[in-house]
Amino acid sequence: MELHEVLRRRRMVRRYDAGRPVEPEALQRVLAAALRAPSAGASAGRDLLVLRTPAQRELFWAETTRDRPGPADAWLTGMRAAPVLVLCLADPGAYAARYAEKDKPGPDRDAASWDTPWWDVDTGMAALLLLLAAVDEGLGACLFGVPAAAHDGLRAAFGVPAGRRFVAAVSLGHRAPDEASRPSRTVRRTLADVAHDGRFGEPWDG
Ligand SMILES: Cc1cc2nc3c(=O)[nH]c(=O)nc-3n(C[C@H](O)[C@H](O)[C@H](O)COP(=O)(O)O)c2cc1C
Repeated sequence: MELHEVLRRRRMVRRYDAGRPVEPEALQRVLAAALRAPSAGASAGRDLLVLRTPAQRELFWAETTRDRPGPADAWLTGMRAAPVLVLCLADPGAYAARYAEKDKPGPDRDAASWDTPWWDVDTGMAALLLLLAAVDEGLGACLFGVPAAAHDGLRAAFGVPAGRRFVAAVSLGHRAPDEASRPSRTVRRTLADVAHDGRFGEPWDG
């Protein structure tokens, strides 16, 4: 698929066809796309924790919905049907180590003092490539937050090391049959709103 077509089609899918698994080859390609993401200093401090068995997914949803007792709402019902979940984890330690190497100019940087948390940015970039590759595979995907209250439980459940940060999760799967026809309700800001021509507030008119 052409890049512009992928960009045009991309939107978050929150309802999945529980009866249709993601083909292993397609999943492999989607995951591999994340490896193409850029990263500060080529630190590439990110990991993808892939949950694709019912038991793994149930554990994830149990840990992340502990404080939501009662019947599942529409969001949860739709998302729980996703056959694959990818937890996108950032590794700040990889940046501290990389920027302490000899080929990086300037003083060693303490990761805690960095103005921009590049580990989170870079993990987000990898997640975006997952979303775009999913479109290319004809799959639906949705990036969503992992509640902070669930982090400790998830670490214990899936062996996630203490230094890793839960940046986001991505659900993957085939859309629910009636989901494909639902038009996106997203109102996108225009380029004139977003792009500033030479000075903040100067509208971009091309
Ligand atoms: C950093 C980030 C966090 C998000 N968190 C959630 C979330 O927790 N739950 C959810 O349903 N969607 C989440 N989204 C999806 C946004 O709601 C969605 O991207 C936005 O409404 C635009 O719609 P579109 O992506 O379909 O064009 C998140 C998106 C981003 C980029």
